[in-house]
Amino acid sequence: MQTRIYLAKGLDCTLQVYDDADQLAAEAARLFTQLASESVERSDRFNVALSGGNTPIAMFIRLAQEPYCSAAPWKSTHVFWADERCVPPDDPDSNYRLAVELLLSRVPIPAGNIHRVPAEMPDHDSAAAQYSENVRAAFARDQHDGDDANSLPRFDLVTLGLGDDGHTASLFPHSAALKSGQLIAVANYVEKLRTSRITLTPAVINKARNVIFLVAGDNKALALKHTLEDEYQPEAYPAQLIRPTKGTLLWMVDVDSAGLLSDDKRLPNKAPGG
Ligand code: 6PG
Repeated sequence: MQTRIYLAKGLDCTLQVYDDADQLAAEAARLFTQLASESVERSDRFNVALSGGNTPIAMFIRLAQEPYCSAAPWKSTHVFWADERCVPPDDPDSNYRLAVELLLSRVPIPAGNIHRVPAEMPDHDSAAAQYSENVRAAFARDQHDGDDANSLPRFDLVTLGLGDDGHTASLFPHSAALKSGQLIAVANYVEKLRTSRITLTPAVINKARNVIFLVAGDNKALALKHTLEDEYQPEAYPAQLIRPTKGTLLWMVDVDSAGLLSDDKRLPNKAPGG
């Protein structure tokens, strides 16, 4: 069921509700591959920033299997991360390790196309600065004449999750990164985790051509309702900051996480707000 929905402050986006997390993952893998092919057709390259956590696991597993292992243009795909924990790349908590184990080690993507966050660096601000430079350099090879070298890179796709507290990437409620301006990535101290994380900023996520949220599980239902139906209060619900300026915004959710949304969002073929 696809519903056009209108969020606070007038942003419109698309919400797709799937019967379960499996169906969501299957459709997300198909859409990932479709966007990758369209990007490569348009610019010979697909620049994607992945999120970590549990929700993307099922999509990673599908992308590593046929038909996507052969169908997706892996040789022209460049993978980045929307956020990373401040741990070494072989740490069980590493988003890089998760994606490599389940996906990137199983598809024909050139090693030079994998742009991990140097999150093992002891100084987290330096790690964020280095990652920002790496992203800028990777996009510079892709930029066309006339592109402003100081403009923010425009990802073809950013995949995001939603925390049960309303965070996305590592943009946590009431954290400094919510006001990070026109930077590419920052280190963000997360009080409740008592640690820092490296995250893309809202500005660079909102520059993307396509942003897809993957949300599953009834433990996300309240956060999803607040994010999609409450007044605009991004300090409390940072995912509300994600409003692509010239891109598409798609919420791919399962029935469980959509359980508290108003009927016009949950039920098929109802006009938004109707
Ligand atoms: C991370 C993610 C984070 C995640 C949400 C949802 O580094 O953990 O980038 O933003 O998307 O916390 O996590 P789950 O998918 O595990 O529910």
